[in-house]
Amino acid sequence: MQVIVAPSILACDFARLGDEVADVTRAGADWIHCDVMDGHFVDNISFGSAIVEAASRHTDRPLDVHLMITNPDRYLDRYLPVAASVDIHLEAEADVPETLARIRAAGRKAGLAINPHTPIGSIEPYLGQFDILLIMTVEPGFGGQPFREEMLPKIGAAAELRKKSNLDFHITADGGINVATARQCREAGADVMVAGTSVFRAKDRAAEIAALR
Ligand code: DX5
Ligand code: ZN
Repeated sequence: MQVIVAPSILACDFARLGDEVADVTRAGADWIHCDVMDGHFVDNISFGSAIVEAASRHTDRPLDVHLMITNPDRYLDRYLPVAASVDIHLEAEADVPETLARIRAAGRKAGLAINPHTPIGSIEPYLGQFDILLIMTVEPGFGGQPFREEMLPKIGAAAELRKKSNLDFHITADGGINVATARQCREAGADVMVAGTSVFRAKDRAAEIAALR
């Protein structure tokens, strides 16, 4: 299975956002992961659509916009023009089927994200309605947290569901991903590795991205 490496710009030097996005693009990033936080759904505020739009001007890679916000339906239209994929949280207050459908109607990949406490069974009603299943391997809100190993069985269960339902959605592991934990997630069935700290703090970002793959 082809592994996709998606560096999270939450870990970049925001004072040099454009250079940082261009640098990880040159270093081999497949996607650019943009962690949008509203200070309500999670206890942190990161950045909004103007910053995501600015980042998009410094890369030719697809932007994977992760909306950790309470009302993704309300802000969706501001991200669709620059995003290749938009991940909304099952725990958010939006109408999930309707919001996923709107993302797809705009020709983007629709992602469904679930927090560590949310059981994998909760996504079954939405099978077929998403192109990416984003499994949080840390509590959402901050980069640099330790990987939660107890999420590995959940990744395995997601891969089982994908096989059983004969679907081919991506499975993203998001949070605390480094070379060692990426291997564990890949073996469990994940194919997209979101990595913030491990890439942006690496001495050699190209080597780190290659090793994550
Ligand atoms: C956390 C974000 C993650 C995080 C990953 O809420 O969804 O994408 O930025 O950062 P690291 O790789 O540092 O855990
Ligand atoms: Zn994320």
